[in-house]
Amino acid sequence: MTATSSKPAIEIVDLTKEFTIGPTTVRALRGVSTTITSGSFQFVLGPSGSGKTTLLYLLGALDRPSGGSIIVDGRAINELSQDDQDYFRRHEVGFVFQSFNLLGNLTALENVLAPFFPVGVSGELRKRATDLLDHVGLANRQQHRPRELSGGEQQRVAIARALLKQPKLVLADEPTGELDHQTGAEVMGYLRGLREEMGTTVVVVTHDESYIDPGDQTLRLRDGLIVTD
Ligand SMILES: Nc1ncnc2c1ncn2[C@@H]1O[C@H](COP(=O)(O)OP(=O)(O)O)[C@@H](O)[C@H]1O
Ligand SMILES: [Mg+2]
Repeated sequence: MTATSSKPAIEIVDLTKEFTIGPTTVRALRGVSTTITSGSFQFVLGPSGSGKTTLLYLLGALDRPSGGSIIVDGRAINELSQDDQDYFRRHEVGFVFQSFNLLGNLTALENVLAPFFPVGVSGELRKRATDLLDHVGLANRQQHRPRELSGGEQQRVAIARALLKQPKLVLADEPTGELDHQTGAEVMGYLRGLREEMGTTVVVVTHDESYIDPGDQTLRLRDGLIVTD
């Protein structure tokens, strides 16, 4: 088990992101500074268009900021070379998105393993994938294809896929967005379990505040800025 240190996991300093389309510039993030503690369950809240997804993309090195920095365990990930960013994104971060992004022609087990297809799948990795599906309650769904699974089950496959990397950081963008509330609560429970059992830092974007528990960290965005509660 990973020890949870009191060191900040992620320091976000004066982060900005602008998108320019023709003559128009959208300032999606306008100077966001905050610290996400290692091993915390961090919610990112805010209305549609407030910059939540943009922030998650920058945290996962799926995109580069226009200004400011993101320091993960002492490294400014925005200053890494493209190769190092690719490595960070592929090996150190687990992503869970609103639409489950599963491949329809692959089984649940194959979907969990898919990110490793380019580098090859060892027997040991396959065993871990099986264990992870077991862990999210899908032991007897491994050979099912996405269309044969419920929405909640599909999202649990996506969680198992994110976990196979043993990431220290999991980024989830509205992971319950397409689920009914009870199924959503279940999926949120699996994400919480990660944090508790593995010390993973979990950042979850949602606009459904009923999932928040006392003790969770919350960060609220509006128009690309943090608003204080
Ligand atoms: N790739 C993009 N190109 C242009 N504008 C974008 C892009 N991504 C996001 N935006 C704009 O940035 C703002 C913030 O978007 P986003 O981060 O997706 O908000 P949220 O996830 O909170 O709904 C919105 O005004 C959106 O239209
Ligand atoms: Mg969004």
